[in-house]
Amino acid sequence: MSSAERLPWIAEDPVSKRLLEIARKVSEASTTLLITGESGTGKDHFARLVHELGPRRDAPFLKIDCASLPPHLVESELFGHERGAFTGAVERKLGRLEMAGAGTIVLDEVAALDAGGQGKLLRVVQERVFERLGGTESLRIEARLMALTNANLQAAVAAGRFREDLYFRLNVLTIAIPPLRERGADILPLAESLLGTLRMVHGKPNAQLSEATRRMFGAYAWPGNIREMRNVLERAVLFSDGGLLEPGDFPESLRAALGGGVMLGRLRSLEEIEREAIAATLEATRYGISKSAEILGISRKTLLEKRKKFGLK
Ligand SMILES: Nc1ncnc2c1ncn2[C@@H]1O[C@H](COP(=O)(O)OP(=O)(O)OP(=O)(O)O)[C@@H](O)[C@H]1O
Ligand SMILES: [Mg+2]
Repeated sequence: MSSAERLPWIAEDPVSKRLLEIARKVSEASTTLLITGESGTGKDHFARLVHELGPRRDAPFLKIDCASLPPHLVESELFGHERGAFTGAVERKLGRLEMAGAGTIVLDEVAALDAGGQGKLLRVVQERVFERLGGTESLRIEARLMALTNANLQAAVAAGRFREDLYFRLNVLTIAIPPLRERGADILPLAESLLGTLRMVHGKPNAQLSEATRRMFGAYAWPGNIREMRNVLERAVLFSDGGLLEPGDFPESLRAALGGGVMLGRLRSLEEIEREAIAATLEATRYGISKSAEILGISRKTLLEKRKKFGLK
């Protein structure tokens, strides 16, 4: 499988098309990257994309989760340690900075680093050298650093929780991944792409989104972004009998987006609303033209014209 197949970057919305362009541009550089965005927007995904688009693609891509590792482990993960550096350090261990070679190191949830970790990271970013814990030899870092955060680092600086000097060092090239609700045109293509993967994973080759589900997906605000979409789809696919996925296969929070009509979720043009109303009516009447026309209060001829215009089945 090529890396492009392994890592689809779905970008239908102009906002994400632009992100793809940015990824191409910054992949050529070795500047430290700061990638910000709400939870589930695709920060990890974007970091990986930058890595794979650029000259580092054949070198390692290593990640350290600063939020889940205790502080002393973050340091030993990053810098490695010499034998005897601390109790339990029975032999020399290489850190990620060393193992990554000329690849990429991702510091996930960088805001979670404690004061000690921040100080050490500052030195790495500034001087590009480090020592293994308990060691004296200065090692040069070749890898590119990318820091990820869903916290507002500026606010953390203001609150005295994050070093300002480190913030300025990381903030050279900042890329903000917008929430899904600000790139509505991505919603359905992303859903189709995720569904494609889930169909294979769970052996449900015929799982499809119904028209009503597509409408619901379009109307929902996705507070948990793409991760949330993946989760609800996975659950729906798992529990489905393998055919159409209906709104009833999804959590109530999503279904609520259908209820309020136009004002809930993102705002849509009249044309979109018309298309959706026609599609839903056709589906509900099992594509009965006369019945649908009657419900919609238009003539058969108008319905057929509109069906054609909107490319509905
Ligand atoms: N543009 C995209 N195209 C296809 N899949 C995507 C895209 N962006 C994100 N994804 C998928 O969405 C899911 C969430 O993305 P990711 O883990 O990168 O988010 P995150 O911002 O790091 O979230 P968190 O803050 O929770 O760590 C992943 O399964 C990822 O592969
Ligand atoms: Mg992440």
